[in-house]
Amino acid sequence: MKNKLFCDIVAVLSVFMIITGCASNLNNVSSEDATSISAASFAQTRIGVCIYQLNDNFMSLFSRELVRYLISLGFSKENIIVYGSSNNQATQLAQVEELVNKKVDAMIVNPVNPSIVHTITDMAVESGIPLVYINREPSADEEYSWEELDLNVTYVGCDARQSGIYQGELLADLGLDKLDINKDGAIQYFMIEGAPENIDAEYRTYYSVSTLTNAGFEMDCVLDEMGNWDMATAKLITEKGLALNDIPEVILCNNDAMALGAIEAVKEVDLVPGRDVFIVGVDALPEALEEVRSGGLVGTVFNDYICQSHSAADAAIRYISGEKNEHYIGCEYVKVSAGNVDEILAETNASSESE
Ligand code: GAL
Repeated sequence: MKNKLFCDIVAVLSVFMIITGCASNLNNVSSEDATSISAASFAQTRIGVCIYQLNDNFMSLFSRELVRYLISLGFSKENIIVYGSSNNQATQLAQVEELVNKKVDAMIVNPVNPSIVHTITDMAVESGIPLVYINREPSADEEYSWEELDLNVTYVGCDARQSGIYQGELLADLGLDKLDINKDGAIQYFMIEGAPENIDAEYRTYYSVSTLTNAGFEMDCVLDEMGNWDMATAKLITEKGLALNDIPEVILCNNDAMALGAIEAVKEVDLVPGRDVFIVGVDALPEALEEVRSGGLVGTVFNDYICQSHSAADAAIRYISGEKNEHYIGCEYVKVSAGNVDEILAETNASSESE
């Protein structure tokens, strides 16, 4: 939790700096006056948010926390405009255009397709609106151009390699004896991937397996399919896989929603997850944390939406206040197993209860 603490301290300090005038010309007023001036000015500030798909479980948690945090800083609810882009790039471009026409003070965008973000960047830069991308990282070339041209554009996210490595470690920690249920010396596994051409999906798929291979496990892939980050789709994939193949020893899911779908499918054929098949996810959705607690999931990886949403809001505020940001702002994943699940539950509950 050290990283989370650090992130929170940085977030609080940076907002404190803005509030106390380090970022503006409020140096001569008392901190009480500064707080009210700042809160009053945030009340008029308008932020536009575009989320690739609002019914994505993780992004809905993320956007709820973002709105909650902005409101806690003094933004008014009516001035936080949140659009869901229905996983449609054309819809998202029209929404960005609308936000530009509304002359919002900053935009926070979770791109549908990170490979065309230059269009969104151009629209924001031409209209002088600072832009913070979240969750789906644009290409290195795109990020380099923000640096080169000194644009008010940044990205906030996590390094998905870390989440894949943590998934592999969670399983490796169980040991060969436990994982290799059929005692053939290899681990038969299903891989349920997020979405095509998605860097989180690519890295989690690759690094979860390579971590196990590097730890000496022989990995035998029986099924590898796209579950679109979606519980129902993953459930269908698992049902189909179980009907056509021998029972896998492990099901690696690129996120928790899909892990929850896999758990349902496994239970339908009277297998006990955590005993007959070992499943891992990523995100730390509340339902997944309950599964970690009860042993249905070996573990998950906290995709720290609290750090990410707060850092995105803080970056937008810094731009609005005339300050600069780094062009990449990173948060850390946290490995979650039965040993620390209560700590993560307490942290995520505390944030949702403070609404
Ligand atoms: C990932 C997250 C997934 C899904 C995806 C959308 O970081 O783990 O659950 O939300 O982002 O791009």
